[in-house]
Amino acid sequence: MYKRWFLLKKFLQHPLQVGAIAPSGEILCRELTDWLELDKAAAAAELGPGTGVVTEAIIRRCNSKCDFFAVELDPEICRLLQENMPQVCVCNANACDLKKLCQARNIEQLDAVVSGLPWASFPASLQQAIIDAVLESLPSGGRFSTFAYLQGMVLPGGIHFRKLLKKKFSHVELSAIIWKNLPPAVVYRCIK
Ligand SMILES: C[S@@+](CC[C@H](N)C(=O)[O-])C[C@H]1O[C@@H](n2cnc3c(N)ncnc32)[C@H](O)[C@@H]1O
Repeated sequence: MYKRWFLLKKFLQHPLQVGAIAPSGEILCRELTDWLELDKAAAAAELGPGTGVVTEAIIRRCNSKCDFFAVELDPEICRLLQENMPQVCVCNANACDLKKLCQARNIEQLDAVVSGLPWASFPASLQQAIIDAVLESLPSGGRFSTFAYLQGMVLPGGIHFRKLLKKKFSHVELSAIIWKNLPPAVVYRCIK
């Protein structure tokens, strides 16, 4: 329950950066992570872990040798996440710097990237910079999953993001609408 209030507090402080009033629900976490084949991944990253509910789903699916790290911009969120999940490496950094963070960990390529970033509230330049960093970090055939809230998909930022994914990835697939989420959401499954 504390996660819900914590995220709401963070949303009120930084609405555009946080972009969510409640943690992702169980079905959304499953839809984001099931498809990534994390059991076979040697390296994986999460962008914008927030309260860590998706992080927990990732950890459950990763094999024990997978080099996994999370990238979170807000220092207070990082601190809380690190306290709750000491086994996870949480980097207090901007998702734009994903490639540099991989290099610092001696990771040549990531097999999978999961994102909880609020794309619809980001300017086009930031969307582009982060997606470029994701593509630079993935090999051909590498997998990327993220989500959009239904209401965000009709905003200019949401429309731009959908077009950007279709332009940059070789395959983009949309899940069915996850109505049992606050707010309802869809998952984008993308292959480089
Ligand atoms: C929608 S919340 C994540 C929600 C999370 N999936 C959950 O269920 O708790 C988005 C998170 O992305 C973080 N964030 C926003 N912009 C970022 C950036 N450029 N780099 C890294 N993290 C960022 C925010 O601080 C916030 O914690």
